[in-house]
Amino acid sequence: MLKDIDVKLLRNCFGKFATGITVITAVAPDGTKLGLTVNSFSSLSLDPPMILWSLDKKSKSLDALKQSSHFAVNVLASDQMDLSNNFARTGDDKFDDIELIDSHCGLPLLAGTVAHLECKNINTYEGGDHVIFIGEVEHFDTCDKKPLLYTNGQYTIAARHPGAKLAEPAEDDRSSNDEFIVPLLHRSYWEISDPFYQELQDAGIPASHARILVHLSHSPELTTRELSDAIRVDMASVSMSVKWLCDNDHLNKTSDDKLALSDQGQSHLDKVQLRARRFEDEVLDGYSDQDINMLKSVLRKLIYRKDV
Ligand SMILES: Cc1cc2nc3c(=O)[nH]c(=O)nc-3n(C[C@H](O)[C@H](O)[C@H](O)COP(=O)(O)O)c2cc1C
Repeated sequence: MLKDIDVKLLRNCFGKFATGITVITAVAPDGTKLGLTVNSFSSLSLDPPMILWSLDKKSKSLDALKQSSHFAVNVLASDQMDLSNNFARTGDDKFDDIELIDSHCGLPLLAGTVAHLECKNINTYEGGDHVIFIGEVEHFDTCDKKPLLYTNGQYTIAARHPGAKLAEPAEDDRSSNDEFIVPLLHRSYWEISDPFYQELQDAGIPASHARILVHLSHSPELTTRELSDAIRVDMASVSMSVKWLCDNDHLNKTSDDKLALSDQGQSHLDKVQLRARRFEDEVLDGYSDQDINMLKSVLRKLIYRKDV
């Protein structure tokens, strides 16, 4: 049957179809954790909720997966390419140093993904050199991150199509406060910064610490009281954060109680700013350069109150 078809060309042809990337995880009957990278995942049915994916018959995990009562589909985020590569190799150490989160069904769920689905393994079908697994979704969860994509044999990330206009909310959906600038600024700040601070929190960097480091990087040599006034956070909370940051060598205190970033604090801040840059790119994805420059210009005018 294959005599007229060049398998390599066919694989390239299949690869033109862009997909997300998942890691299928399960527990083998002997208790060993199983995990492998899979991009053949697809949603199948809403009612009942079902999904499918296919596994190469040559896979080492085939027998164990067939016998597992459940499996999880971990949908990888754009910052999880290393996880994809880790689970695309054969080895007994795939779960070494891998952070897992709690699961309803006792499955190894990967932390930091865009979504996961815990499924009952309800059926398998032969499909040429692959076996198709059908799962019934029992639990699922999502997170506001960008997915990792795969096309033409390459990892990619999603960007909103420049032709897809961002919709203005319908008149009915707007709140009466939408006519006032200050609440609009306030809400837009929380809307875009909340997921960022949540991501920092998940990475073990509390928002309060991040704010202090950012502020001291451009206004060094402040006392704790001056810092509390500057970032508009109460003195008790700032004192607690400052104590933690000093105890962990992120801040140095001078003899006159002024605070300054240490080298370790600076490298902590660099990590925060790297995430902030990526996060800002995601938030602004889909807005034209003209819109972004206009927004920046108006915000600067509001802050520095000139050129009006
Ligand atoms: C992006 C990507 C997608 C993949 N998709 C699949 C897939 O859908 N089905 C499959 O059987 N293997 C797929 N693989 C290959 C498996 O991840 C790889 O063969 C893995 O080592 C199998 O695990 P095992 O050692 O338990 O057999 C994919 C690999 C990559 C990098």
